[in-house]
Amino acid sequence: MEKQWWHSAVVYQIYPRSFCDSSGDGNGDLRGIISKLPYLEKLGIDLIWLSPVYLSPMKDNGYDIADYQAIDPRFGSMADMQTLIHTAKQHNIGIMMDLVLNHTSDQHQWFQQAKQSRDNPYRDYYIWRDQPNQIRSVFSGPAWQFDNTTKQYYFHLFADAQPDLNWENPKVATEIQQMVSWWVEQGVAGFRLDVIDLIGKQIDQGITENGPRLHPLLQQMHQACFANKPLVTVGETWGATPEIAKLYSNPQRQELSMVFQFEHASIDWHPTHGKWQVQPFNLIKLKAVMSKWQTCFDGDGWNALFWNNHDLPRIVSRWGNDGQYRERSAKLLATLLHGMQGTPYIYQGEEIAMTNVRFEDLDDYDDIEIKNSYQEKVLEQQSLSHQQFMQGVYSSARDNARTPMQWGNSVNAGFTQGKPWLALNPNYSDINVANALDRKDSVFYHYQELIALRKSAEYSDTLIYGDFALLLAEHPQVFAYVRQHQQQRLLVVANVSEQEQQIRLNLSVEKVVLNNLQQNDELVSDLEALRLAPYQAIVYALSTR
Ligand code: GLC
Repeated sequence: MEKQWWHSAVVYQIYPRSFCDSSGDGNGDLRGIISKLPYLEKLGIDLIWLSPVYLSPMKDNGYDIADYQAIDPRFGSMADMQTLIHTAKQHNIGIMMDLVLNHTSDQHQWFQQAKQSRDNPYRDYYIWRDQPNQIRSVFSGPAWQFDNTTKQYYFHLFADAQPDLNWENPKVATEIQQMVSWWVEQGVAGFRLDVIDLIGKQIDQGITENGPRLHPLLQQMHQACFANKPLVTVGETWGATPEIAKLYSNPQRQELSMVFQFEHASIDWHPTHGKWQVQPFNLIKLKAVMSKWQTCFDGDGWNALFWNNHDLPRIVSRWGNDGQYRERSAKLLATLLHGMQGTPYIYQGEEIAMTNVRFEDLDDYDDIEIKNSYQEKVLEQQSLSHQQFMQGVYSSARDNARTPMQWGNSVNAGFTQGKPWLALNPNYSDINVANALDRKDSVFYHYQELIALRKSAEYSDTLIYGDFALLLAEHPQVFAYVRQHQQQRLLVVANVSEQEQQIRLNLSVEKVVLNNLQQNDELVSDLEALRLAPYQAIVYALSTR
């Protein structure tokens, strides 16, 4: 496979509203991010995926854009944005903008025009029908909203304040491409494309995901905006199978660099209630899914590796142990992911093992998805009780990832001098960046080491390009795999449980590369009789016998 610079990159996602507030208004902002660039450089990342900072009424925290070429005053100004791009470069960090192209805010000029009259020139930028069909919104309820002025329904796959753009209209594609090219000229390093699998939809056939026009539209966008530029692009594609992922990320097809697939991320969701009622974690299933994605491309695509983002709960609370083994299990999860093939993404706070939050009162949550789902499932359909729903919120709600970043143990964790837009997780007095930076054995330094290893002369080719082979596929507690490139083999072994495990592998150790326990290497060098402590994870170089 032809090497690309972003194969070896590590990305850090910033959810700007919750990262760092420099102005005291309780919302994170661009100057706050600039002040933390040295911290991110120390961690070792190459790229920041910046969740939306564009002008927005914040119905969905910026994923409802009112102007793609303006910065929301909460976050700062366009001059601040330019300073961020420029200063980040000095820290060897590129900025990936988040492009929300499936829909805009209802406050966007295009929609404001479109809803004035049926013959407005912008009418066809959105999707209008006399009669709604059966399609439902991802945020509950019908995907159609009646407009009283023009007496038609408009289509919205998310909130009613997020009308879907009409990608059947070539003018939409042209305007969007001009806007994207403008951002390229501003010096950004790439883009994350929000729910991009929805833009090829065929409403009247009931097709929303992976519609027939999707790939032609992406090829067109590639041609117009990305071709022959050193950009990295990643699409958010909830419904992707390996076959579909290849359509996007096979370099021959000139669409995107890679996609986020969510098969592993929704593995424990309930068939009917989805994330609001999670099933017990099943490691065997997770291993099978991860292994399938590790081995399916063979040069015809590329993986984006992630446990977390702003839509998912905190991984240490989800599949680790956020009590006694919080730090150890966070290091284990990091090791498992960063040992795999693909481009790793770290979500803000993951590097200090921030945890899920439990607010007693539903009003303390902000997320529109929580509010709408409660309305539908508890109040209208009564398919879940209040208690059941709250359990779902504690395990899976998006606000778990969105509580403000925990920088230190001063008031509001040093996130803001004002009143935070969303309450902090009260555990910030223990779990915070200052504390992590002070201790050499913290989760932060483990991430730093994993990133350094991926870039080291010794192991980078194997970690980036090595083949993946799952071992002990049926073991219910141990996750083990080998990465091989030419003569070099690396073994990653992890005990994903609270009990000690003993395993036997017919392999021999050359050296211990990384261990999440402080331990004499001798103690773990016999793979034919390996005792793993709870949540222990080790990376070995294997001897080539
Ligand atoms: C994506 C975003 C999510 C947002 C939705 C609608 O899934 O990640 O946060 O709510 O798209 O834009």
